[in-house]
Amino acid sequence: MKLLVTGGAGYIGSVVTRMLLDAGHRVVVLDDLRTGHAEALAPDATHLAVGVHDAASVLTPDAGFDGVLHFAALIAAGESMVRPELYWHNNTVGSLALLDAVRAAGVPRLVFSSTAAVYGNPVELPIPETAVKAPTNTYGATKLAVDMALTSEAIGHGLAAVSLRYFNVAGAYLRDGVAIGERHDPETHLIPIALDVAAGRRDKLQLFGDDYPTVDGTCVRDYIHVEDLARAHLLALTAATAGQHRIYNLGNGNGFTNRQVVEVVREVTGKPVPVEVAPRREGDPAELVASAALARAELGWVPEKPTLHDMVGDAWAFYRTHVLREQP
Ligand SMILES: NC(=O)c1ccc[n+]([C@@H]2O[C@H](COP(=O)([O-])OP(=O)(O)OC[C@H]3O[C@@H](n4cnc5c(N)ncnc54)[C@H](O)[C@@H]3O)[C@@H](O)[C@H]2O)c1
Repeated sequence: MKLLVTGGAGYIGSVVTRMLLDAGHRVVVLDDLRTGHAEALAPDATHLAVGVHDAASVLTPDAGFDGVLHFAALIAAGESMVRPELYWHNNTVGSLALLDAVRAAGVPRLVFSSTAAVYGNPVELPIPETAVKAPTNTYGATKLAVDMALTSEAIGHGLAAVSLRYFNVAGAYLRDGVAIGERHDPETHLIPIALDVAAGRRDKLQLFGDDYPTVDGTCVRDYIHVEDLARAHLLALTAATAGQHRIYNLGNGNGFTNRQVVEVVREVTGKPVPVEVAPRREGDPAELVASAALARAELGWVPEKPTLHDMVGDAWAFYRTHVLREQP
């Protein structure tokens, strides 16, 4: 297939691009590099430094695209609470512009990066796709709005749409001399920040709140390896069906508290990771754990690296060989 990958210079989009190329697809990456990294771009993909809002300049009716994988977004839940307008404009308005272009060009299928943040504070755990959607942060709300637009697009215009609701993505892609890991700036994710502390590049790690109703008072999250997540996208492309919007959670169904994650980082790195308890962050749900039973049953998705040790081990390998080497 000829595929457009938005956000293909980012952490997840650049890994998926490589797997699509390996599977024999042709890939055009649309990424204006606002938060991405040129060095993460796959050399065998065509890169266009174009914003999602201008996707119609690329997705022309003659361009012959068979599908779009839409990763481009702003992703920091905390920032989305203080600068909500940025998130609505980029994540929601941008996605609607992309959908207009998809419709005008007659592109048959689209796979969207949705998120566990659409559920807010869940009433049932693990969370099925049918659970109440009540996002507690603007980021989750902007993604839920796009999910709803995709349902309409499938019903109204026959799009084959798939939303993949990722829980916390972690680990690194380390294959054939290529290494891609997490590098958000500023970094807001727990594991890369804990690795910074283990490597001595930050003094301490802040735990945002230790009075949540969880075993040790810190938030519980479900982690998924970026390679397992990426493989689900290839399965979703195949499963996409005209006129349907399919929605799948992607996680491992195991919750770890922030303190437990830090302990695994200490074990894997063999280094101390001092922590400091800071106030809760606005909009953080106490516990997010996925039921990915539907993805397993309908997509045939089976995670190959489900343990936190696998994920932290790969993230640390990437960190030592790339982050520390490039910015000693
Ligand atoms: N990382 C996670 O744990 C996680 C969890 C749930 C959902 N997601 C979703 O997965 C997707 C990818 O996340 P990531 O961690 O790879 O983020 P990332 O920041 O590494 O990558 C996002 C990419 O999108 C590009 N981009 C953003 N806005 C753009 C625009 N308007 N036009 C063109 N390019 C634009 C950026 O330059 C960047 O390369 C996002 O949609 C995010 O919401 C991520």
